[in-house]
Amino acid sequence: MGIIKVNQADGTSREIEGVEGWRVMEVIRAHGLPIEAICGGACACATCHVEVEPEWAERLHPARDDEEALLDTLPATGPTSRLSCQIIWEEHLDGLEVTLAGEGA
Ligand code: FES
Repeated sequence: MGIIKVNQADGTSREIEGVEGWRVMEVIRAHGLPIEAICGGACACATCHVEVEPEWAERLHPARDDEEALLDTLPATGPTSRLSCQIIWEEHLDGLEVTLAGEGA
């Protein structure tokens, strides 16, 4: 058990319960928060783009080459941009904080 804090484009935040072994994108989507995730987690669309809070970014496993390549196709990314479908939530990520990048980002 643990939480993921999700900041939204409108400035509001939600704390949602993480699910061991689920992709962060899946947890966000299951709670009805606005994330497109068109490809369903196949690392093929980049519509699950999030900015990870800096203190958490270094605690995640590094992005693989295919994730990096897809992030490079986006018009705007930051130093802690990740695809949330490529982050598997586990208990040691309790408190993980991400910001939804929103449409077109
Ligand atoms: S859901 Fe498509 S890349 Fe993450």
